[in-house]
Amino acid sequence: MITLKSPREIEGMRKSGALLAAVHIGLRDIIKPGISAMEIERFADHYITSHGGIPGEKGFEGYKYATCVAVNDEVAHATPRQNLILHNGDLVKVDMTVTLDGYQSDSCWSYAVGEVSSKIKKLMDVTKKALYLGIDQAVVGNRLGDIGYAIQHYTEDENGYGDVRDLIGHGIQPTMHEQPNVPHYGEPHKGLRLKEGMTITIEPMINEGTWQILTKEVSDPNDPWEYYVTADGGWSCQYEHTLAITKDGPKILTSQDPIGDAKYL
Ligand code: MF3
Ligand code: CO
Ligand code: CO
Repeated sequence: MITLKSPREIEGMRKSGALLAAVHIGLRDIIKPGISAMEIERFADHYITSHGGIPGEKGFEGYKYATCVAVNDEVAHATPRQNLILHNGDLVKVDMTVTLDGYQSDSCWSYAVGEVSSKIKKLMDVTKKALYLGIDQAVVGNRLGDIGYAIQHYTEDENGYGDVRDLIGHGIQPTMHEQPNVPHYGEPHKGLRLKEGMTITIEPMINEGTWQILTKEVSDPNDPWEYYVTADGGWSCQYEHTLAITKDGPKILTSQDPIGDAKYL
């Protein structure tokens, strides 16, 4: 079932998204060579709870953490391991959800650790632009295929990257994962028609090489968990926003950038 949200509900999600965005903004100063992934987790968990929020991933299908922290060829759902030390040149993705007063938000951001190579910088730029090209299609009357096509065409046809198929965006609110599924690939004018009041995530995962991914086990026997890595060892990048589809266009609810995102606020 797809639930359409009232302006009041969208305001609640916007407050939740603002808290989530503040965590990402704080992480810009935390993420540097030498820190462990667990330090990202501790910062996020503490920031969310001390501002009245609940880390939504904690307890979700047995997951134990506030964040997913994936580095380099790791694609998604990776745990913030204490023994994962970030090095200069690494690409780290931090994905989290926040519940605030019953309202959900979900946003992943990619960070360069120290200085990344120009090759990885380009992967980051293309992935972020792909997210925004997808958001631009999230207008009343368009279809889900318009979002997916915009992302796939730009990342694969124009830039030669691999656009992950197996993990997708989703409706959000009242729970983290709601209908509809929001694939990051597709055909123009195909799929479900977008309506005012839908709240969704768009969260492309773009790989340097093949779009195919594999599952991998966290090696800690006390903390069994399966996450995703690229099939060919190429690096992967991801950006995710939560947005509302309104009659005034797509509204980003997890914005970290009031100036750059001005037309989406
Ligand atoms: N935040 C992820 C998403 O974008 C979901 C992570 S579920 C977890 O949908 F259990 F791995 F945390
Ligand atoms: Co999501
Ligand atoms: Co997410």
